[in-house]
Amino acid sequence: MRAFIIFLSRAAWAQRLVTHWGIARRAASRFIAGESGEEAIRVIQHLNEAGILATLDHLGENTSTAAEARQATDEILQMLDRIRASGVRSNMSIKLSQIGLLLDAGLCQDNLQRILQKARQTQNFIRIDMEDSSLTEKTLACLRWARTQGFENVGIVLQSYLHRSQNDIQELITEGVPVRLVKGAYREPAEIAYPDKADVDQAFDRLAGLLIAGAKQHANPTANENGLVPPIPAIATHDPKRIQTARDLQVQYGLPKQAIEFQMLYGIRRDLQEALVGAGFPVRVYVPYGTHWYPYFMRRLAERPANMWFFISNFFRR
Ligand code: FDA
Repeated sequence: MRAFIIFLSRAAWAQRLVTHWGIARRAASRFIAGESGEEAIRVIQHLNEAGILATLDHLGENTSTAAEARQATDEILQMLDRIRASGVRSNMSIKLSQIGLLLDAGLCQDNLQRILQKARQTQNFIRIDMEDSSLTEKTLACLRWARTQGFENVGIVLQSYLHRSQNDIQELITEGVPVRLVKGAYREPAEIAYPDKADVDQAFDRLAGLLIAGAKQHANPTANENGLVPPIPAIATHDPKRIQTARDLQVQYGLPKQAIEFQMLYGIRRDLQEALVGAGFPVRVYVPYGTHWYPYFMRRLAERPANMWFFISNFFRR
C-alpha cells in the first residue's frame, strides 16, 4: 500500500484527479496550513502562543523550468521578510528540487545563495529538506558549497532508512552542521535503504545517539535567543519510542534540554508536541503552505494507511 501511494504521489494523472476533488482538498487541509502566506503566518502565531516554534515550507518540488525555480525562490525571499515583519518564531525549510536542482546545479546554487543572503539579513536559518536518493549526493554537495561560501545559517536533513546516513552523519557532525534526523518518506530500493521498519527504527536510535554525542563535542550549542537558529540535533519523529530513546540519550550525555530540538509535522500528534513543551524541550512544527500540496499530502497518506482509509471512506460517503 505504502509503495503504491508513493508511486501515485509522482503520477501526473493521479495529481490531476486528486487535486480536483473537493474532498481531497479538505483531507489535505489537516496537514497544510493554507494556500496563502498570510494563512501560514496565522497558524504559526497560534503555535507560538502554545510555546511551539515553526519551520515554514512553501510547498513545491521538482520544478521544471528556470523561471519557475526563480519564482519559487522569490516566494521564499518574500516569506523570510514576512517572518521578520510579523515577528513569528519560525525559520524556513526548502527543497532544492524546487529551486532548480534538477535543471542545473549552477542555477540552484544561485537561488540558494539568494535565499541564504536574505536569511542572513533577516537573522534567520534555512533547513534543506532531503528528497529521494537520486538527489542525496547533489543535495549534500550544495549544502557543502553553501558552507564554503561562508553561510553557517543552513542545516540539512538525514534519513535513517538509508545505509549511507551513518557515514554522512559522522562527517556532518565533524563539520558542525545542524542535522534534522527523520526516518525517510520516499520509496527506496533495498540495496540502499532498510526495507524493514524495525531496522529503520533501530538506525534512527543509533543516529540520534551519534547526533547527541556530536552536540556534546561541539559544547552543546543551543538555539539562538529568538529560537530561529536551531541547535545541532533536531529529532524529527512522532514515534514515542524514538522520542523516549532521544530523551534517555540526552540525559545520558548530560545535554541540556535546550541543546536538542524535537520536530513534528503540522496536523500530527499535537498532544505529543504539547507534552514535550510541558517537559521543557524546544519543539518545532513543520508548517507547509501553498497550492502545490499534492505530493506532500500523498506522502502523509503513505506513512499511515489508516489516513488512506479515512480519505477513501469520506469519498464514498459524499
Ligand atoms: P512512524 O511512521 O513510525 O510513525 C509513528 C507514529 O506517528 C504513528 O504510529 C502515528 O501515530 C504517527 N504518524 C506518523 N505519520 C503520520 C501521518 N502521516 N498521519 C498521522 N499520524 C502519523 N522525510 C524525508 O524523507 N525528508 C525530509 O526532509 C523530511 N522532513 C521532515 C520534517 C519533519 C519535522 C518531520 C517530523 C518529518 C519529516 N520527514 C521527512 C518525514 C519522515 O521521514 C517520516 O516519513 C514521518 O515523520 C513519519 O515517520 P515517524 O518518524 O513519525 O514514524
